[in-house]
Amino acid sequence: MFNVYETLERSDHSQPRVAALLACKGNLMAASWHMPISKSPFRYAVAVREENYTHALLSEYGSFTLNFLPYEYYETVDLMGRLHGDECDKLRASGLKSQQVDTNGNPLLDASDFIYACNVCDTYTNGDHTVFIADVVRIYVNAHQSKAPMLFFGRGRYATACKDVVI
Ligand SMILES: Cc1cc2nc3c(=O)[nH]c(=O)nc-3n(C[C@H](O)[C@H](O)[C@H](O)COP(=O)(O)O)c2cc1C
Repeated sequence: MFNVYETLERSDHSQPRVAALLACKGNLMAASWHMPISKSPFRYAVAVREENYTHALLSEYGSFTLNFLPYEYYETVDLMGRLHGDECDKLRASGLKSQQVDTNGNPLLDASDFIYACNVCDTYTNGDHTVFIADVVRIYVNAHQSKAPMLFFGRGRYATACKDVVI
């Protein structure tokens, strides 16, 4: 049996997705509506709501880094999903270190398991988010990558992968 809903807001189903931090200039935004869309060239899509400060930053600068942090940073990611960069310094508020930037000056967060450095090459709007499509021009992989990716289930619920099989 299924419960049936007409809108996403009313439905209470869990929506497991990988949570990441999108960094553009000095700002960090929690992001889970993202996906790879082309292997070669490697292209990635991120959906960003127009009201978010990140939307204005991406429209102005056309580049970002997508930082995939391990599960233990879920409180920080959640905070970056509640603050707005036009009201405060979110990089500072996060307490995260960024010793390096990419070639566009976007932060590479030290704690990340891996990072995609992206140049926006197209946009698509069909609803209340803009899909920023980007060339992934560099992939930074932490030599000490964790085995605990950060999953976001919606409605403030976080988890990590608990079973790992290789076929
Ligand atoms: C785990 C998580 C994932 C999120 N994913 C997205 C997303 O993919 N796209 C989006 O526009 N907002 C997303 N949000 C909401 C933004 O992170 C939130 O509105 C944030 O305050 C925007 O920051 P900014 O105004 O500095 O850009 C997410 C929030 C959380 C907590």
